[in-house]
Amino acid sequence: MLAPAIDNEFVREVHAGLSGFGQKTLPCRYFYDAVGSALFEAITHLAEYGLTRADARILEAHAAEITGSIPGPLAVAELGSGSGIKTRAVLESLHSRPGLTYFPIDVSATALAQCARELESLAPVVPIENSYLEGMREVASRRRAGEKLLLLFLGSTIGNFEPDAAVEFLCALRSAMCPGDGLLLGTDLVKPVDRLLAAYDDAAGVTAAFNLNLLARINRELAGNFNLRHFHHEARYQAEAQRIEMHLRLRDRQTVQVGKAALTVEFAAGETILTEVCHKFRREQIAGMAGSAGFHLEGQWVDEEWGFAESLLRV
Ligand code: AVI
Repeated sequence: MLAPAIDNEFVREVHAGLSGFGQKTLPCRYFYDAVGSALFEAITHLAEYGLTRADARILEAHAAEITGSIPGPLAVAELGSGSGIKTRAVLESLHSRPGLTYFPIDVSATALAQCARELESLAPVVPIENSYLEGMREVASRRRAGEKLLLLFLGSTIGNFEPDAAVEFLCALRSAMCPGDGLLLGTDLVKPVDRLLAAYDDAAGVTAAFNLNLLARINRELAGNFNLRHFHHEARYQAEAQRIEMHLRLRDRQTVQVGKAALTVEFAAGETILTEVCHKFRREQIAGMAGSAGFHLEGQWVDEEWGFAESLLRV
């Protein structure tokens, strides 16, 4: 019998990640449905998760210096803009630039609407509801001749890529940019393991709920029958790879069905699903990664309180 046609990306990726031998995986980009986005927003307010506040502190303290290093007419674009709150400091520092346009790129229409409300008093906002790379291509086709682009990729989302994929992604961004354009890249830095583990396994269980919601989403959208009560959130630090891994661990063996993927998954007792990798960087590694992607590191600002860097990379 022929397998039923698998017709969308979510179905395909769930199928690929959960079938076959070896470590089962699910892609972290599916965390962000309405529930997951709300849980992520809650994570950013947790005492244990200092990353977002560190990112914002750097922008508040240094936005003028960062944007001042790209003089002249400018457009600002942002990958995964979310609500746009962190971007306020960047746009405020550009209030005297004539013709400033802000292009937030996000797959969530709700986030884009919120972002436009938050920032439209500071610059004309042109929301782009698309994936990062498609969105960048759209920005490239819409930006005006003669203006430079400052692309924001904040929050250390680059750390959620495997290292080779991160360089490949930065190369793809660069190919949609012009000489003299800048990429402001946020990266979380290596820090003591207990701080990292607490940041990804907070006492209130918000990160656990964020992780488990991925299975709930599969149940809701793909007719899955994961029993969430049998899975447990686990954060591990892999020192050599400098990364936190988020897993969902099953205590006992179990069979799960995902109806829309025509999939039956057998789990052994103690088996895990790897749902996210969060790489942490050393400052000098950022220049190396930028160089491999054809950028050069022009400036770097560090929040010592948490351990976070904002780097300005130039094409
Ligand atoms: C979006 N990204 C940078 C977050 C991180 O820290 O890697 C996602 C996250 N996962 C668990 N907590 C936060």
